[in-house]
Amino acid sequence: MSRDPVANRIRVLVVAGARPNFMKVAPLLRELRARPRFETLLVHTGQHYDAAMSDGFFRDLGIPAPDVNLSVGSGSHAVQTSEVLRRIEPVLLDWRPAVVVVVGDVNSTLAAALAAVKLEIPVAHVEAGLRSFDRSMPEEINRLLTDAISHWLFTSEPSGAENLRREGVCAERIHFVGNVMIDTLRAHLPRAREAAPLARLGLEPRGYAVLTLHRPSNVDDPERLVGLFAVLEEIHRELPIVFPVHPRTRASIEQRLGGRVPRLGLTDPLGYLEFLGLLADARLVLTDSGGIQEETTVLGVPCLTLRNSTERPVTVSEGTNRLVGGEPEVIRAEARKVLDGDAPHGRVPDKWDGAAAHRIVDVLERDLSRERA
Ligand code: UD1
Repeated sequence: MSRDPVANRIRVLVVAGARPNFMKVAPLLRELRARPRFETLLVHTGQHYDAAMSDGFFRDLGIPAPDVNLSVGSGSHAVQTSEVLRRIEPVLLDWRPAVVVVVGDVNSTLAAALAAVKLEIPVAHVEAGLRSFDRSMPEEINRLLTDAISHWLFTSEPSGAENLRREGVCAERIHFVGNVMIDTLRAHLPRAREAAPLARLGLEPRGYAVLTLHRPSNVDDPERLVGLFAVLEEIHRELPIVFPVHPRTRASIEQRLGGRVPRLGLTDPLGYLEFLGLLADARLVLTDSGGIQEETTVLGVPCLTLRNSTERPVTVSEGTNRLVGGEPEVIRAEARKVLDGDAPHGRVPDKWDGAAAHRIVDVLERDLSRERA
């Protein structure tokens, strides 16, 4: 009997919730939609909802509008996670995907994976196996639990497979495919360089630093925040620091520092292209983000990570990343080295080549076609 190629399509539901998810789903959706074998549904949980945190990214990255928006919005971890669970279940029941694809480590990632697996819908986790070994980070809990219930574990760097094997995951489920966020970086870098807001901000290439700060461990503790801002203001007097302020950080400055704004180059959050353009020509990046450690490694820009641990160790062992924690003396000394021309050099990790989404969709197509044969 001949098969109707359309009727026999494999249904893939892709979930995105927060800013760092959007650049990861973009290449996956493009790859899935280019293959006639697949039918996709994009679900936006609405964890991030501001124009600056969400809509602009869809535009910059050319992601089609979500098919479904769950509009969960902000809330405590329990509220946010449970709202995604509750609101995604009817979508799963109604559309009955063959697989749910989740990316990264945000609350939406865990909630969508949990809802799916309870309905016996297999889950594919993209960016699996990363571990900071710091369970006070909400993302670490999300990573551990999502990996524990996912069928396909797509890893971005060698530590991913090592961690998963140690946790008892069988080798056949682990696929080292590379880094989907770097697919997006490579696809957009030329446009990002054009969009870089250097002139608007009065900056010269290599004549500035970029700062991002939003981890609860940095911004929810007033003492730590004051200490960080003091040393950053010192650096800023020598090398201007551009600081796009995350909403969580903006709220913390208001509530915990009585609105005392640091004397740095503050801006609102930037769009993907503007921000990537800014990173590409920076002399130094200071951050507590996960993804930015990877982006600076590919761009060859020195990165000082304002945390005590990283779940992305390849950015330190092979890339330009250095962990400096929150101690002002360490931050000052490491920034000094970069300013004096002693910056870390690195190389691009294996499979961060722009083809990660292609490899992921190859695996899904092979495994899911086999199931249906
Ligand atoms: C979330 C992710 C984090 C990721 C970060 C990137 C979790 C546990 N954390 O943290 O891993 O690095 O996104 O940004 O999922 N807000 C707005 N507008 C928005 C979204 C949030 O104003 O569009 C404000 C709200 O006041 C909210 C606060 O930001 O309470 C924090 O948002 P939330 O989604 O809870 O966590 P993030 O800190 O953004």
